[in-house]
Amino acid sequence: MKSDFQIILDNIQKRRSIYPHNFKQGAISQDIINDLVEAARWAPNHKMTEPWRFVIFTEDGLNKLSKFLGEYYRSNTSQEVFSQEKMQKAAEKPLQSGAVIAICITRSPEAVIPSWEETAAVACAVQNLWLTASAHQLGGYWSTPAAISELVRYFELKDITNCLGLFYLGWPTELPNIVRKRKAIEEISFYIK
Ligand SMILES: Cc1cc2nc3c(=O)[nH]c(=O)nc-3n(C[C@H](O)[C@H](O)[C@H](O)COP(=O)(O)O)c2cc1C
Repeated sequence: MKSDFQIILDNIQKRRSIYPHNFKQGAISQDIINDLVEAARWAPNHKMTEPWRFVIFTEDGLNKLSKFLGEYYRSNTSQEVFSQEKMQKAAEKPLQSGAVIAICITRSPEAVIPSWEETAAVACAVQNLWLTASAHQLGGYWSTPAAISELVRYFELKDITNCLGLFYLGWPTELPNIVRKRKAIEEISFYIK
């Protein structure tokens, strides 16, 4: 029988960034999305501010997100470099996905808690979400295009300070066997005895 440590390490090591061009068509049920949010909301956070918010695009919402990304490219690209092909490329990922979760933050005042701590708490929540997606055999990755700076305003999201990324989700065409290296333990750990 595997120890708790081996189970958690296996799951952590199995998690990968899997990109929308490797997804096949297929919706993701609300039950599964709820599993991801359930895991996310148990992340550590200073002063229990629970700063994470998840804006979930499914069904026609994926077309709306795609339109937003295309429009952002159009309005932020000069005429000289504008290309129809690049606009389509900017807009295609939501259409290849089963769902997209905009990772958002509702910040407490800086005097209550520093901004970086709130961001760190959201990142912890995303790791929980990501590991849970991986345990469901779902592919996904955290994307941080420039367009996210406009997402809250564009979708008129109330009580949300900022968007920190788009988490694309989909069923991978095949289970990934991607090897991504990490630095050795000795390179990143330093003892003071
Ligand atoms: C905060 C954050 C932002 C990221 N933004 C992007 C991104 O914009 N585009 C991208 O291709 N990958 C992005 N990634 C995914 C990383 O490229 C990926 O995690 C890294 O290559 C390691 O691969 P792995 O997730 O499979 O271990 C982001 C990851 C994090 C944590």
